[in-house]
Amino acid sequence: MIVHREIEDWQKHRRNEEAGGAWSAGFVPTLGGLHAGHGSLIARSRQENPATVVSVFLNPAQFDQQADLDQYPAELEKDLAQLDAWGVDHVLLPTAEAMYPDDYRYRVTENDVSRRFCGAHRPGHFDGVLTVVLKLLNLVRPRRAYFGEKDWQQLSLVRDMASAFFLDLEIVACPVVREESGLALSSRNARLDARQRALAPELLRSLRTESTPEAAARRLQSLGFEVDYVADHDGRRLAAARLGEVRLIDNISLDAAPNGPGKESAHAS
Ligand code: PAJ
Repeated sequence: MIVHREIEDWQKHRRNEEAGGAWSAGFVPTLGGLHAGHGSLIARSRQENPATVVSVFLNPAQFDQQADLDQYPAELEKDLAQLDAWGVDHVLLPTAEAMYPDDYRYRVTENDVSRRFCGAHRPGHFDGVLTVVLKLLNLVRPRRAYFGEKDWQQLSLVRDMASAFFLDLEIVACPVVREESGLALSSRNARLDARQRALAPELLRSLRTESTPEAAARRLQSLGFEVDYVADHDGRRLAAARLGEVRLIDNISLDAAPNGPGKESAHAS
């Protein structure tokens, strides 16, 4: 596994590989705080590509809350050991200064879906995500890039961006990896206390058992969640809710929701 800390070194390496004519890579962008959810994307990339590149970059532009950024689990040595064990070929570890030589003067803005659902509660978040993903895709030039369905809104915005800007690659969607309890794996789960952890699987359960987004939101509220939204969109039931300081998101296919595919509706508080 080769770790690239300097963007120029990485670009030199990639140009050499491209000149050899055999460059075809799968790419998995991450924020770090790695867990088996990330591992599933990497395993899929390794199956489908001769080389797998992973970036670990805690992208400041996508954190709308400084506290969330400050508390994000950053255990670089542990992450690197994990990536090595997973069989990753290249790791990109750029600094924020190197990624934003323009001080974020240039950015990708999406004017519709990115303002709704998670975007309504995290102003600027998806601009930060789309901008860094475009930068990373330009740096890596992968044949395929892997994204988790756990972050459904992110996945669909990235897919639409790739199409809008004619990016010559495939965006591959990977299913949500969950604990046995049903809780979706997330770096933020480590911040839940014992009581919150016991409650957290109720997020998925509410999406699965209640027949409407409104009913799911009411159930979550009655259990002690602070609900940002539950909404049907794009064939999915999407939700975000907070337990104390920790914001959890999840989604299921509407085919798996009790009332089946319905018209778009939302409950927001
Ligand atoms: P991060 O939260 O580290 O997630 C990296 C990738 O792993 C994303 O595509 C995410 O959807 C996927 N992932 C996370 N938890 C998962 C789970 N339980 N099951 C399946 N996939 C999971 O998402 C980001 O980073 C950033 O926004 C990023 C795209 C890297 C841009 O900065």
